[in-house]
Amino acid sequence: MSIALVILAAGKGTRMNSDIPKVLHPIAQAPMLVHAMRAGAVLSPERTVIVTGHGSEAVAKATLAEDETAQIAIQAEQLGTAHAVAQAREALQGFNGDVVVLYGDTPFLQPETLERMIEARAKNDLVILGFEAADPARYGRLVMNGQTLERIVEYKDASDKERDITLCNSGLLACDAELLFSLIDSVGNDNAAGEYYLPDVVAIARSRGLNVTAVACDEAQTLGVNSRVDLAAADAVFQARARADLLDLGVTLMAPETVYLAADTVIGRDTVIEPNVVFGPGVTVESGATIRAFSHLEGCHVSRGAIVGPYARLRPGAELAENTRVGNFVEIKNAEIAEGAKVNHLSYIGDATVGAATNIGAGTITCNYDGVMKHQTTIGQNVFVGSNTMLVAPVTIGDGAMTATGTVVTRDVEADALAVARAKQDNKPGYARKLFDMLTAKKARRDKGA
Ligand code: UD1
Ligand code: MG
Repeated sequence: MSIALVILAAGKGTRMNSDIPKVLHPIAQAPMLVHAMRAGAVLSPERTVIVTGHGSEAVAKATLAEDETAQIAIQAEQLGTAHAVAQAREALQGFNGDVVVLYGDTPFLQPETLERMIEARAKNDLVILGFEAADPARYGRLVMNGQTLERIVEYKDASDKERDITLCNSGLLACDAELLFSLIDSVGNDNAAGEYYLPDVVAIARSRGLNVTAVACDEAQTLGVNSRVDLAAADAVFQARARADLLDLGVTLMAPETVYLAADTVIGRDTVIEPNVVFGPGVTVESGATIRAFSHLEGCHVSRGAIVGPYARLRPGAELAENTRVGNFVEIKNAEIAEGAKVNHLSYIGDATVGAATNIGAGTITCNYDGVMKHQTTIGQNVFVGSNTMLVAPVTIGDGAMTATGTVVTRDVEADALAVARAKQDNKPGYARKLFDMLTAKKARRDKGA
C-alpha cells in the first residue's frame, strides 16, 4: 500500500503568543514540524505534503532542509483542519493509496503506533488515533460505540456529558486518499468556531455506512503543543526519553536530569557526561570520551578518549581527534584538533588546524578576524605554543616549533624554530622599594588632608 503523509502546519498557534509559526518552535532544538516529519518517515511515504499558512516561507524552508522532496501546499486562510487537508489535494494528484494525516504540532509519535494505524486500516475505511487523556482539557472527544467510532466532538461544541469522555482525538488519521477528499467535501463549518473540522469526517463516514475505528496510544505520543507551557512539557518529555535511551546505550550521565540534549545528539558507549552539559544540534561524541561539567557543545565531533571541559565551549566545526584535551574556559570553532593535542586553559582556537601532540599554552588566542574577514591559523605537530601567544591569522607554525610566552605571532614560524616577539625585560635594582615609599608617603599626605 502506498502512503502519502499530509502534515498540517498552517495554524497560527495563537496561544503560543509568538511571531514565530507554531510548528517552528523547537523541541530539543529541532522544529516540532521536523519531529513530526521524522516520525512519519517510518512509513516510507511516497509523497509528503506540508500544509503551511502562517509564516509559510519560513515553514517551507525548514521543511525542505529536512526533506528536499517534500511538497508544500499553501493554506492562505486558516479555515480549519479539514480545509487544511483539502489544500493537499493538488499535490496528491495521481496518487493512489492511503493518506496519513499528521499534525505538525504533535511531535512524539512512535513508529509502532503508525504501524498499528495502518494495520487497522486494512479492516476499516477510516482510522483515527486516540489517546486516554489524564486531563482531557480542550481536546476533541471520541464518541465510541463498541469498536466503532461514531463521531468526534470538539471541546467547544461538547455537552457536559461529552466533556466527561477521556478518550481524546490526537488529530491523526489514515484513510484512502480519494475517500478522504470526498468526505472532506461534505464537511461544513456550522460549529462553535465556525471552522471546517477534520474530525467531522468521522460522522460523515458513519452516515455513509463506512467502518470507522480508533486506535489508542499513550498520551505522551500525542502530546499536542498549543502553548509555551505545552512546549516546555514536550521538551521535558523528549529530554527524559533521550536520556533514558542514552543510559540504555551504555552512556554514563552522572546527573541525567541536568544534561540537555538535542534531537540529533549521538553519544557512544562508555562515554561519561558530567552534570550540566548542554548539547546543541549536530553533535557526535564517540565512545569512551568524557565531557566534563558545564560544557556547551554544538555542531562538533568528539573522538574516542577525548576529555572536554569543565566549562568548555565547542562550536560548529570543532573536530576533536582521539585522546585530545580541551580544558576549562576554552572555545573551539571551525578547528581540527589532531590526535593527542591539548588546549587546556583559557584559549580561543577558531578557523585553525592544530597538529598531533601539540600543546597550546594557557591564554592562547587565534586572532582570526580582522574586522572584515576570517583567516586561517595552521599549527603543525609537536608544537609548543607558549602561554598568552597571540596568533595573528593568516599564519602558519611549522612542526616542532615553539613560541615564547606572550609572543604576538604575525609572521609564519618555520619548523623547529622558536618565535619570540615581546619587549625585552629590564630589571631596575631598588626601584620597587623607592616606588612603594613614594606612594605610601603620597597616601599619608592625602589621608591627613581629608
Ligand atoms: C485539534 C483537533 C482536536 C484534537 C487536537 C489534538 C480539530 C478541529 N480539532 O484541535 O480534536 O483533540 O487537535 O491536538 O481538528 N491547522 C492548519 N490549518 C487550519 C487549522 C489548523 O494547518 O486551518 C493545523 C495546525 O497548524 C496544527 C493542527 O492543524 O498543526 C491542529 O490545529 P490546532 O489549531 O492546534 O487544533 P486544536 O484546537 O488543537
Ligand atoms: Mg492543537
